[in-house]
Amino acid sequence: MSKTIIISNRLPVKITKNNGKYSLQSSEGGLATGLGDAYKNGNMLWVGWPGIDIPPQDQPQIKERLAKMNLVPVFLTQEEINLFYEGFSNEVLWPVFHYLVTYARFEQVYWDSYVSVNEKFAEATQSIFTEGNKIWIQDYQLLCLPSMLRNRLTDTTIGFFQHIPFPSFEIFRLIPWRDKLIEGMLGADLIGFHTYDDVRHFLSTASRLTPVNFSSNIISLNNRQIIVEPFPMGIDFDKFEKLPLQRQVLAEIDNLQTEKQGRMILSIDRLDYSKGILERIRAFELLLQLHPKFIGEISLFMIVVPSRDTVAQYKELKEKIDQLVGNINAKYRTLDWVPISYFYRSFSIQSLSALYSAADICLVTPMRDGMNLVSKEYVASRRDETGVLILSEMAGASKELNDALIVNPNNIGDIMNAIVNALQMPVEEQKRRMQSMRALVKKFNVNRWVNNFLSRMDDAKLLEHSLR
Ligand code: UDP
Ligand code: G6P
Repeated sequence: MSKTIIISNRLPVKITKNNGKYSLQSSEGGLATGLGDAYKNGNMLWVGWPGIDIPPQDQPQIKERLAKMNLVPVFLTQEEINLFYEGFSNEVLWPVFHYLVTYARFEQVYWDSYVSVNEKFAEATQSIFTEGNKIWIQDYQLLCLPSMLRNRLTDTTIGFFQHIPFPSFEIFRLIPWRDKLIEGMLGADLIGFHTYDDVRHFLSTASRLTPVNFSSNIISLNNRQIIVEPFPMGIDFDKFEKLPLQRQVLAEIDNLQTEKQGRMILSIDRLDYSKGILERIRAFELLLQLHPKFIGEISLFMIVVPSRDTVAQYKELKEKIDQLVGNINAKYRTLDWVPISYFYRSFSIQSLSALYSAADICLVTPMRDGMNLVSKEYVASRRDETGVLILSEMAGASKELNDALIVNPNNIGDIMNAIVNALQMPVEEQKRRMQSMRALVKKFNVNRWVNNFLSRMDDAKLLEHSLR
């Protein structure tokens, strides 16, 4: 079987430095957790950034440690971290692709760095490439990489998958370097998104910005054919289903059940303005105001995982969350009850599993989200088929998880009503909904996602050869 080289900005493990010593930790975010599970079982190499600026003299030892896990580091300088990662990736592409254009800062230096770091990834990939390898590029930080690699490795099969939404043309056209971004993506043989809407937006954008034609979902460009398709990402269902049987997880579930004050609503996200965290807290506050009978009877268990906190909007969001949670807790808490248990840190997979297992409701209300794997992890963890998922219609996952209570994340009253419905939902109804969602998450798991994508890459290559 031919080897696949995965390339993403962030590796599935990140390096941290404490007292001069380097250690490895799992990365957070759906790309790293979801693909990381499939990667362990596959014949793959993974090229990416280990998450911090590592001085040149320490790079060889890091390279050696990562090589044992089939990981190939691309080292970024502090300046590249500022301009390429925080700058173009997270102050231009992230806000625009999530429809928050007023957050974008269109700086020429960001773009210059984005291009040169994409070249750096091309260089690193070329240096480990051997004949017959397939290349699978991930996400918005590397939009120029497909065509850079196409120029270097002409005949190779290149796939590209974007884990975040692709916006409509009217939004995408605001980016000053819009044509270059599309040209970069069109270096791939197969381009994948989570949903059909993303595919539609991409096809219409590509045809309006570049001289390409498309028929159905195939783009024709200079004797090349590019397939564009939706591939909704799944999770490792078996792993999440089995985790609650581990002794450590059982002990944590037990602890949570005895400690929890009334029924527990769980929310888990990276710190991000796309996740609708403030609106969710406001909906919970409205519930306490309008339905005081729930005071002392429910609590919101809210995990916010630190993310990109050197970017101004993230820092501001953190302050606003701290303030809002502080105000609500100060106003409503009693001597033996706290409305919101708020954690600003990451948790082990075992602790996450215990939380998913103990939570009566999982509240997932992003303003926009490519897929959202947390919602699927909750479903997979519910071995006894109880529990209610409340899910934003703006998450890619809502296209599949129809049996969740679907809400508009901008409508705080709607979220509040959904929480009330969830609290009152009979167990039979919870089970009926959960059963059908579990069957779906089990069937369309991450291995199936990887296999589908890789086999479509083969089809894309065949299509191209048939045209020669
Ligand atoms: N996650 C994690 N550590 C934590 C909390 C969450 O690794 O402390 C994981 C979570 O299990 C999920 C991922 O981070 O797999 C978040 O993915 P999602 O698609 O929901 O959102 P993203 O962060 O990619 O926008
Ligand atoms: C989302 C993106 C990923 C990214 C992750 C974590 O899942 O789609 O590409 O890796 O967030 O963000 P970070 O900036 O820490 O890599």
